[in-house]
Amino acid sequence: MKQSYEYFFVEEIDSTNRFLRDMVRKGDVSRAAVWASRQSAGRGRLGREWISPKGGIYLSLSSPMKVECPHYYTAALGIAAAEVLREEYSDDIFLKWPNDLIVVKKQSGAIHEAKLAGILAEYIADTPTEHHVVIGIGINVNTLPSLDANIGGFPPISLNTMRKQETPLEPLVKTLIERVSGIWSELECNPSRTMLDVVERWKKVTYTLGKIVQIQRRGGVVEGVAK
Ligand code: BTN
Repeated sequence: MKQSYEYFFVEEIDSTNRFLRDMVRKGDVSRAAVWASRQSAGRGRLGREWISPKGGIYLSLSSPMKVECPHYYTAALGIAAAEVLREEYSDDIFLKWPNDLIVVKKQSGAIHEAKLAGILAEYIADTPTEHHVVIGIGINVNTLPSLDANIGGFPPISLNTMRKQETPLEPLVKTLIERVSGIWSELECNPSRTMLDVVERWKKVTYTLGKIVQIQRRGGVVEGVAK
């Protein structure tokens, strides 16, 4: 059964993840989506800043966490974004494990990867009721943030750069919320089957499978082949 999600739009906020996390902590919302036109203090992974001028998508979603493994919620958001962007715009868009959406181009025999979007997941245990996830995605749409360049080893790219035209934000945000909340609702109602489904859908949009990956952690870097 599809759960209903409350939806909030704000013109400007420091960080949609911070805003939604505080509402969840207070027990004001549980299943919700917050979309901002711009962020004044957008947050990236590993304590980095996510430069968030008007023209990009800054979206966070929250849900009670029903399955043991919270990473399925993060994967579901990445899969939903990759599926929607591939269907609407380009097959060159992939989900790069764990939390990046990249554009891969072959030019003169060389492979170029550029970062289109990033995902930041937070797990919240100190709520009045159940544990929750708050997961945010920033997508470079009609703007190319000046900072965050070359983070994770690749430069930024935007849909505008790829398509050479402006992309309307609202339909994309709504489709994305629909797709993510659909998978998250399934995770709540039928966790075992949906976890398998998430893995199968992930295989179709991932760029990582079979490639050598490095996991960057605060304590250092671990390397291996993604399976
Ligand atoms: C990354 O470092 O790649 C993750 C970036 C995540 C940015 C998004 S924008 C919406 C949400 N609010 C934030 O402050 N960060 C996330």
